[in-house]
Amino acid sequence: MKGIILAGGKGTRLYPLTKAVSKQLMPIYDKPMIYYPLATLIEAGIHEILIITTPDDLPLYRRLLGNGSRIGCSFSYKEQPEPNGLAQAFILGEDFINNDPVALILGDNLFYGTHFIEQLKKHATYDGGMIFASRVSDPHRYGIVQFDSNKKAINIEEKPIYPKSSFAVPGIYFYDKTVVEKAKKLKPSKRGELEITDLNRLYMDEDRLHVEVLDHGTAWLDTGTIESLMEASQFVQVIQSRQGILVGAIEAAAYHSEAIGKDKLSDLAEELKGTVYGNFLKSLIL
Ligand code: TTP
Repeated sequence: MKGIILAGGKGTRLYPLTKAVSKQLMPIYDKPMIYYPLATLIEAGIHEILIITTPDDLPLYRRLLGNGSRIGCSFSYKEQPEPNGLAQAFILGEDFINNDPVALILGDNLFYGTHFIEQLKKHATYDGGMIFASRVSDPHRYGIVQFDSNKKAINIEEKPIYPKSSFAVPGIYFYDKTVVEKAKKLKPSKRGELEITDLNRLYMDEDRLHVEVLDHGTAWLDTGTIESLMEASQFVQVIQSRQGILVGAIEAAAYHSEAIGKDKLSDLAEELKGTVYGNFLKSLIL
């Protein structure tokens, strides 16, 4: 399976922070934001990844992440000239997807939990699309899903004024190879975007949209506002200092998912010698 990270957008809710620099390059505690969703994909065994961002920001991501070979992965890049919506990722990524199944993760979503990676791997057992559902207290801010006892989606709405369920859809989605043709059928919404909710609806109409409820032990943080950005940093700091681990370390994710072996990890730890990050990588080998 291939993966796409959407790291474009305008980030207007974080202005002036994101006026000159892309949101997904902002720090979440000790790493750039994009490290967290990237580590999630890698840890789930998805090593061929397309990063979609704005023409201005693309060179910065390339400088940060390179072609991925350093950690046994393959990273490629594509410009999204205007933020025309999440579902545009599949049209921009058509050549990259090349008729394979694909996962999309939003560059400002952070997931943390021991069982989460196991849940991600369930996509392989489903035919069609797979999304997650997470109970939230403010459902009108999100895409909202209702599902039946077979975990099939039966209703899905974008930021409803009167939500019919309190299950929000987090920013990670899995689709089969029909996703590109479906994305091409979409029409821009009232706000002028190709909506992921409309794409999900096409799978739902075929009775092929599966819903996995996020495990209670999984934290899902979206970092699009100043408060949530700060909370995410505090969350990562607390977990890291209490558990003695690094959250969102892409090198560790590559090692756990066997993209690299011990020798390579040891070289990477050496490169980052003298940093907390480097010491952590070293501790994985010992
Ligand atoms: P949003 O948070 O909806 O949009 P934004 O990042 O532009 O922020 P704001 O609302 O503050 O202006 O986007 C969610 C994620 O998807 C985020 O990581 C940016 C990314 N994105 C794109 O890459 N392209 C797009 O066309 C859109 C709509 C979002």
